[in-house]
Amino acid sequence: MDTGARQVDVAIIGAGAAGLMCAIAAGRRGRRVLVMDHANKVGKKILMSGGGRCNFTNLHTTPEHFISANPHFVKSALSRYSPWDFIGLVEKHQVPYHEKKLGQLFCDRSSKDIVRILLAECAAAGVEVLTDCPVTVEQLGPPHRLHTGHGQVQCESLVIATGGYSIPRMGATGYGFDFARQLGLAVQPTRAALVPVTLEGRKLRQLADLSGVSLDTETSADGVAFRENILFTHKGLSGPAILQASSYWEAGKPMDIDLFPDLDIAEHLREARRERPRVELKTVLSDLLTRRVAQRLCELWLESKPLDQMSAADIDQVERTCKPWRIWPSGTEGYRTAEVTLGGVDTGGLSSRTMECRDHPGLYFIGEVVDVTGHLGGHNFQWAWASGHAAGQHV
Ligand code: FDA
Repeated sequence: MDTGARQVDVAIIGAGAAGLMCAIAAGRRGRRVLVMDHANKVGKKILMSGGGRCNFTNLHTTPEHFISANPHFVKSALSRYSPWDFIGLVEKHQVPYHEKKLGQLFCDRSSKDIVRILLAECAAAGVEVLTDCPVTVEQLGPPHRLHTGHGQVQCESLVIATGGYSIPRMGATGYGFDFARQLGLAVQPTRAALVPVTLEGRKLRQLADLSGVSLDTETSADGVAFRENILFTHKGLSGPAILQASSYWEAGKPMDIDLFPDLDIAEHLREARRERPRVELKTVLSDLLTRRVAQRLCELWLESKPLDQMSAADIDQVERTCKPWRIWPSGTEGYRTAEVTLGGVDTGGLSSRTMECRDHPGLYFIGEVVDVTGHLGGHNFQWAWASGHAAGQHV
């Protein structure tokens, strides 16, 4: 039937990490693939990621690095597209990279290298990519009919790769979540994650001038702990440990920050009291926590006095205050600065092997729009690559 619409095998909405990887995999299989994005450039989040150097994967990615209502969902896709598969692509294009820490791989030069790889692979696989192209789904099939900024499109497989809400000024929308809800699919509640937390009122006034100070800690929320740095900011707290813990934090609950993750602080103080009895508590804490933080702790919650005047109760007080130091965030900085959206299209409605919707044949959801959220450190891109690749084998 001639509908006047352009015919393709696969239409993908969203030219981000997941959409482009899906397009490459499908194009290599000989499928006619069209990728459309309403933004004026592809892969804007890739470009801004990793401080401009894109932490494109993590050597140690396992299913345990992901949060989802169904923690088993990620297993199939991750096992079929590993960090080494993506590293193979990076090496094929001779893009220099390095491990920064904890298995996190970054580009030596710029995130632009990753976008270049993806576009070169799309071109080699015969994939067409359109930017400045808003899309609405007119009729769900298959065949599916789409209204786009470049005319009508008809496709057998439709892939939703529109990402999450974070960084709206980069083109992020809730399109994928809204579309799923319209179809009656379950969507797990969404909220900003991998995001700095805010403090208010007296607590903020007490700490705001520590802005810029960073400390090695073990920070936990809801019983899940991360051994990383925290960073004081003029709005509250950030740094990798806080970002990680924010994904487990719920409004109204505390975060616990162990300021001496490797140290029995009570024993340390007793030993220091034996060896340097005239030294003040503030001085001992300065060696461990920086002078500014030690001073603030002593102004607010501890009494600094020479160690030989400290009683067992005083030493207990230090331990109770700092191990952990309990904070009650007033909120987070929200989607404006969050790296990811927690929650999303419920995995119960999707095949973990192909990402296809159980109730709507030929419709797929991949990447961040799905209720899968990785820890900090390259795991989110690994999910985008793996879920995109899984769908790309089937569309
Ligand atoms: P992504 O958001 O990449 O792509 C979605 C695309 O859909 C966008 O191009 C958007 O314009 C388009 N779109 C949205 N709505 C549309 C509509 N209605 N019509 C048409 N197009 C539409 N992760 C990591 O592993 N390592 C890192 O270093 C970082 N760093 C980082 C820094 C910052 C500042 C942020 C915000 C995020 C990160 N991340 C990260 C997270 C990572 O960027 C994210 O998990 C992936 O980009 C998700 O890939 P997707 O393809 O699912 O969505």
